[in-house]
Amino acid sequence: MVRVAFVPDAFERVKTFVPGMDKLIQGGFPKGHVILVAGTPGVGKSILCSQILYFNAMEGKKCLYLNLEQNSSRIESQMIQFGWDPKKAKNLKLLSLDADDPNLVNFLLLELKNSQYDVVCLDSLDSITSNPVSPSNLSFKEESKVFAMDPLNMNRLRLKSIFKALGQSNSTILLTSERVESPGNQGGLTRDTISEFLCDGILLLRIGSVGTAVRRTLAILKMRLTKIDLFAHPFEITETGIRLE
Ligand SMILES: Nc1ncnc2c1ncn2[C@@H]1O[C@H](COP(=O)(O)OP(=O)(O)O)[C@@H](O)[C@H]1O
Ligand SMILES: [Mg+2]
Repeated sequence: MVRVAFVPDAFERVKTFVPGMDKLIQGGFPKGHVILVAGTPGVGKSILCSQILYFNAMEGKKCLYLNLEQNSSRIESQMIQFGWDPKKAKNLKLLSLDADDPNLVNFLLLELKNSQYDVVCLDSLDSITSNPVSPSNLSFKEESKVFAMDPLNMNRLRLKSIFKALGQSNSTILLTSERVESPGNQGGLTRDTISEFLCDGILLLRIGSVGTAVRRTLAILKMRLTKIDLFAHPFEITETGIRLE
């Protein structure tokens, strides 16, 4: 009989603690990777990310939820209704910032460098990328070259700079992104349509038909260093949070 040697996973992983999810990604996200959480509004992106951060913080991991979408009290009350009291998670920092602040990206990158978080959620990436690039928020070396470029190229370069900096931090980073889904729309996963090529992993959350029912589903479309299936896994939002079936 030929025995297949058991090869342990050499990569350190960050558990999601979402019931049913870790087994789909060999135990968790590869540490330090940048993961895109894409989906239509209301599908559960913010709940998924706050669940992952809350449970990681309760396990002693240093976490940052950077909210650029709504005021922090709304994220906080959404967490509390699931029984995740941010005050109990001493290692979880909730921060709400103005997405139009020209210093936002610089602040974020400095905060990541100085505070050395284990897990970070940026909710949402679109809040940054949909901002028009103005000379006042061009701060990267590469960007100093782009004054003569058209806005699309300028945005592409800016995104590449941001992703490069995020990838260089030791934090595992979740980026939420709103997806426009309409019949016949074969467009990208993000509004900028570039981020999906720059990230290490993609989770796609959808509301759609599963058999005769309309369900929420989660598919792992990309996860570097990880064996994945591409199935749409139905999930539920229960009174204790997200649970995959
Ligand atoms: N306790 C709950 N039970 C079931 N569904 C809930 C509960 N709380 C919120 N939801 C659902 O979650 C949705 C909001 O999820 P959220 O993560 O904020 O979405 P988004 O993808 O826009 O970030 C609401 O539209 C609602 O349908
Ligand atoms: Mg949200």
